[in-house]
Amino acid sequence: MKFFIDTANLSEIKEAHELGVLDGVTTNPSLMAKEGISGKDNVFKHYKAICDIVDGDVSAEVIATDLAGMIREGEELVTIDDKIVVKIPMIKDGIKAIKYFSDRGIRTNCTLVFSAGQALLAAKAGATYVSPFIGRLDDISQDGLELIEQIRLIYDNYAYETQILAASVRHTMHLIKCAEIGANVMTGPLSVMLALLNHPLTDSGLAKFLADHKKVNG
Ligand code: G3P
Repeated sequence: MKFFIDTANLSEIKEAHELGVLDGVTTNPSLMAKEGISGKDNVFKHYKAICDIVDGDVSAEVIATDLAGMIREGEELVTIDDKIVVKIPMIKDGIKAIKYFSDRGIRTNCTLVFSAGQALLAAKAGATYVSPFIGRLDDISQDGLELIEQIRLIYDNYAYETQILAASVRHTMHLIKCAEIGANVMTGPLSVMLALLNHPLTDSGLAKFLADHKKVNG
């Protein structure tokens, strides 16, 4: 399972990269705004800075919502670095843009996916990644993990190569369940990755090992 970090914060990206388990980064306009990044030049410089830290794919989202605008933005975004994947919203022109990019070998991440039908459309258009937002479905009392299961089944039925990128991952159980179901990628905050480290028996066990070592070694 690939681990992507869902942030535009460079120090968090560095910390996750230094842990040695980071496979990529996802961003979105809200995450860029949270870092105070504005203006095309700054946005492009920031994406480049992210690409320079990580080894894997970096999703950069288009702002346009019409086909011509999405194509124009996507074609510019991919000039930043080979790691850039064009992130496109699940709307009618978005599907057309995904098909356009897919036909030209440009990788895409179809975002804001909340149903199996949307995920099927994204796969048929040739998206590299599909991003179902599981946390936001949970927020409205729908089971986000159930959607991941549905998409896994559909993609396996027809051997679609589109990778399921479980997004809006909020806690470790989301992550573990996504791994059990067979999501190809999870994207979440650094805190979720770090929380995987935690177990009280690890802490107490290590304390005991060190105490016993000290008894005989001083
Ligand atoms: O990758 C999508 C993600 O940014 C949404 O997460 O926590 O805002 O629902 P969240």
